[in-house]
Amino acid sequence: MTETETTLLPADAGGIAEAARLLAAGRLVSFPTETVYGLGANAQDSHAVARIFDAKGRPRFNPLIVHVPDLDMARRYADITGPLAALANSFWPGPLTLVAPLARGHGLSPLVTAGLDTVALRVPAHPAAQDVLRVFDGPVAAPSANPSGRISPTTADHVMAGLRGRVDAIVDAGPCSVGLESTIVGGDPLTLLRPGGLAQEEIERVVGPLAKAGNAITAPGQLASHYAPGAPVRLNANATHPGEVLLGFGPMTSDLNLSLSGDLIEAAANLFDHLHVLDALDQPIAVAPIPECGLGRAINDRLRRAAAPRP
Ligand code: TXA
Ligand code: MG
Repeated sequence: MTETETTLLPADAGGIAEAARLLAAGRLVSFPTETVYGLGANAQDSHAVARIFDAKGRPRFNPLIVHVPDLDMARRYADITGPLAALANSFWPGPLTLVAPLARGHGLSPLVTAGLDTVALRVPAHPAAQDVLRVFDGPVAAPSANPSGRISPTTADHVMAGLRGRVDAIVDAGPCSVGLESTIVGGDPLTLLRPGGLAQEEIERVVGPLAKAGNAITAPGQLASHYAPGAPVRLNANATHPGEVLLGFGPMTSDLNLSLSGDLIEAAANLFDHLHVLDALDQPIAVAPIPECGLGRAINDRLRRAAAPRP
């Protein structure tokens, strides 16, 4: 984790322009939504998204929420139809996140979706979030702006206290009004995936009763574990067995390398992409050892799931 200078930006035209410029340059920007402060990165830039996980010290790659300014832009990234469209029309902008099938040509980083074929989308109502998203004019991945395992931030001071030196800028627009993460709905049948800032009753008034999260298919934390290559995966391999392809790390000869220089942020950015490419070759995959520190922990968590015996 390299330390960076953290700039506090006002939520005026100059501050918002600087926030958008930093996002476009692949940097991390914290901004307020009406629920909590988010830790944002360009959702189409894998290297930028990898830095979110690094900054938070997250031990695993769970899928992130993608923020957009309106339903029109949301539709560039996901197919929002039927009851999801009804919910978007009723509650966006607001504290509601919808999980929907990825649209063709979405261009989102596979790190954002954790390799799933769905994406969580949110249109926040906070004026500063709206301004950042409109000026940036693209999708912003943003979990809450706190170190992993700590309380979600509802002021710029909270973000500064938790992430100073790990985020490039914080847009300060005072305290968040809701103070609780957005409600997440998705799946077929439509399921409450996470209770949050919008009451279940409000949602059910529009689309009728929601299914309860509980089965393995829809429970949020679980979903991330479903992506695994079709071919067997062998970890901590220093050389290939006959017939295997090698996913390397650090200076070595391999079929594909996560990071020749041994940079864990670069490795995280390449992880899903490289696994997909090797998977398409339909040969067993050997993976070089990855150090169990920093983002290496999240990478190894993902690789262990990919290598686990299939049900
Ligand atoms: O209020 C909020 O929602 C805040 C602010 C910053 O917008 N954001 C937030 O983001 O809480 P995040 O990235 O921490 O929420 C991620 C959660 C995951 O843990 C998972 O439960 C769910 O969103 N999620 C994301 N993508 C999903 C998907 N494709 N399928 C199911 N659940 C998904
Ligand atoms: Mg959080």
